[in-house]
This record gives sequence, structure tokens and C-alpha cells, in this order.
Amino acid sequence: MTAGRDPRLPSWAEVSPEREAHIARVAGLAEEWAARMEVSDQERARWLRAVWLHDALRDAGAATLDRWATPGLGELRHGPASASRAAAEGEADRGVLDAVRYHSVGHSGWDMVGRVLYCADFLEPGRGFDREHRAVLAGRFPEQPARVLAAVATERLVHLVNSGWPLPEPTVRFWNSLVDSSGTR
Ligand SMILES: [Fe+2]
Repeated sequence: MTAGRDPRLPSWAEVSPEREAHIARVAGLAEEWAARMEVSDQERARWLRAVWLHDALRDAGAATLDRWATPGLGELRHGPASASRAAAEGEADRGVLDAVRYHSVGHSGWDMVGRVLYCADFLEPGRGFDREHRAVLAGRFPEQPARVLAAVATERLVHLVNSGWPLPEPTVRFWNSLVDSSGTR
């Protein structure tokens, strides 16, 4: 453990200082949304637990990832690994664990925790691209969470398709669930 690390990070987290700063910005956005949406303290705490867990093993080595996640998922392993480790440490909230597990790929069964994390992770102000557009979406989330989720998913999927990688199965189901629930698009 590094001295001076944010105490909200789990003790077992393996993150660079830059990663920690990213996580803190995601937390800031989630806190802002929780305040504007006037959610209960309990719900706010669920959002923030997911945020502080989601990238906890993002900078972990192969040995740690092998221990906590199925091999073969490449870069996508840190979400499942962080969720498995969090469960082993006592996190029992299914919504929090699913938020963490699927935050890189999307999940059709998410409750609000997963949606908040997926959007805040993408919309946090430290990312270098499309700053103004992402700030507009971030500001709109409390009033129109479903619309902003659809917009974020669209942008992330376009990026994924353009990258030439195959779409993970959970991503396909996630996307289809958004299209189904919005009716016509
Ligand atoms: Fe993240």
C-alpha cells in the first residue's frame, strides 16, 4: 500500500496514481448526480462503493488477474476480477457487484448502480476527447438518465465497432435491452 492513498479505495486495490485520480473524478460525478437526483444515503453509498471498486484491479499483474478472473478476457478482465475480489471481501450487493463486473462491456440486467457507473466512467471530466459534448451529457444525466445511458452506449459501441474487435455477448444483450426499452429509435 502506498502512503497517502485515498482511504475510499479498497485496501487490496492495485492502481496507479493516475488511475486513482480517474476513480476520484468518477466518484465526484456520481456524488453530484446523487445530490441532484436526491437519492437516499443508502443508494448514494451503493453508487460510490461501485465506483471505488470498479478499477481496483485495473493495474494489477497477470498473477492477480489469473487468480480472480477467468483467463482469456484480456483487458476486460479487471472488472470481473475486481468484482470477485470484492465479493470475497464481503460485498454482497448484487447491483454493486454487477456494476463492477460488467462496467467495461455493459449488462442488460443492471439496476441504477451499473447505469451510473457506466455513464460516469465515460463522462468524467478528465478524459481528453469530446470534452464539451461529454460535459453536456454529464449535466443532463440527473434529468434524463435513460437518454444519457443510450447516448453513452451508442458512443462506446461505435468506438468498439470501429476498433474491429468482436462485440462481447454481454454488450450485444445490453444494447438490445436499451433498444427494446426505448421502443422505436
Ligand atoms: Fe474507470
